[in-house]
Amino acid sequence: MAFQKMTAKKLVEKKQKGQKIVTITSYDYAFAKIVDESKIDLILVGDSLSMVMLGHKTTLAVTMDEMIHHTRAVARGVNNALIVGDMPFLSYKVDIKDAVYNAGRFIQAGAEAVKVEGGTEILPIVDALVRADIQVMGHIGLTPQAVYKFGGNLVQGKTVEAAKKLVLDAKNLEKAGCFAIVLESIPWQVAKLITRSVSVPTIGIGAGPHCDGQILVIHDMLGIYTDFKPKFLKHFGNVGEEIRKAVGAYKDEVERGTYPDLEHAYEFPKGDLESVETWFSSADLDAEAERAKAKKHG
Ligand code: KIV
Repeated sequence: MAFQKMTAKKLVEKKQKGQKIVTITSYDYAFAKIVDESKIDLILVGDSLSMVMLGHKTTLAVTMDEMIHHTRAVARGVNNALIVGDMPFLSYKVDIKDAVYNAGRFIQAGAEAVKVEGGTEILPIVDALVRADIQVMGHIGLTPQAVYKFGGNLVQGKTVEAAKKLVLDAKNLEKAGCFAIVLESIPWQVAKLITRSVSVPTIGIGAGPHCDGQILVIHDMLGIYTDFKPKFLKHFGNVGEEIRKAVGAYKDEVERGTYPDLEHAYEFPKGDLESVETWFSSADLDAEAERAKAKKHG
């Protein structure tokens, strides 16, 4: 059966049917195309691009313009997966009108929904986005835009109070209209309770096996980005090592003169070759080059 365009509604139906939801980040056309062809349900243009694509230390540095630039590229490579744009730091919590405007920019760039970080405290923002007909994905637990408030990339929800707050945050996000909620770096038992308490899918990252779906940063799971390896991360391939090998082999062949060989070069039409070679050996090349320049530029 042909894979069909994923929608937020279909993701909720997947939860109802007990089918796992598979999601990955992407930031450019080439990766997004491969991910989409792999029949992944949802592609998040994550603000993690701040680190894995742009080399910043946190997600806080990436701007709206940069996020939009990457969202456009991803959208060109995707036919089926639901594309979610990750609203960056300062793009939605300063002013609700800005939040709606910036979310709209993601939609114009090709995203079909946006993701925002935060719980009960951001309900007015979620509400405004939903009222503007923009689909919203929530994100609670370790929300990386609050990394300095947390004092680092620390597991959240480890006290009774914190666990209760996460469950109530999820309930409130669902009631406000979120179609899915990312649970990041929280104990699996808390994630399991949250997953039972809401009818919309939970998408875990460092939240154990009982979430309705999972998400990973593509550069992390492929072993391309190696600056930081959290406990939950599994490498599903060692593409970083493959790239290193390929770049090394290319360097070696260029230096030894074995690449390119004639199999990887273009032929000049045989009949005309002699005339070019005759001209080349008899012409005053410096004088001809000067004449060509004068003709072009006076
Ligand atoms: O930016 C991102 O990649 C994310 C996921 C890790 C959920 O927010």
